[in-house]
Amino acid sequence: MRIKWLYTAPLILGAGSFAWAAPQGSAKDGKAVYDHSCKSCHGMNGEGNESLAKMMHAKILPLGSKEVQAKSDAELKKDITEGVGKMPAVKNLSVKQVDDLVAFIRSLAKK
Ligand code: HEC
Repeated sequence: MRIKWLYTAPLILGAGSFAWAAPQGSAKDGKAVYDHSCKSCHGMNGEGNESLAKMMHAKILPLGSKEVQAKSDAELKKDITEGVGKMPAVKNLSVKQVDDLVAFIRSLAKK
């Protein structure tokens, strides 16, 4: 038993630190980009700007809703950079900014 632990513990710890090191966006940096480029339509916390949605004849789902959260990171990135439905593509975002925005959107998930 004791010997087995000697083997497995480093494996578990190793996997944990690998997950930490995996590249991923920063929700904190994403918030700054969001405030600048998305907030006017999507609201302070992604809840959606209702009067603007009416004006655009669009339905803006809360970004934290399970419908939006069910999308993959790749889909979210595509929606942002190429546009989706009535939303125009958001131009001039760096790859990092898009990663950060996805991290920020994930941080809005309803718990
Ligand atoms: C001009 C207003 C406007 C701006 C600016 C805008 N959006 Fe949107 N967004 C919309 C509308 C309207 C929709 C709904 C589109 C539809 O389904 O017709 C939408 C949909 C989305 C969706 C898909 C949600 C779903 O229903 O699956 C994501 C993700 C999203 N926006 C993220 C962003 C991010 C991130 C930014 C900033 C980089 C941004 N949007 C900027 C108006 C906007």
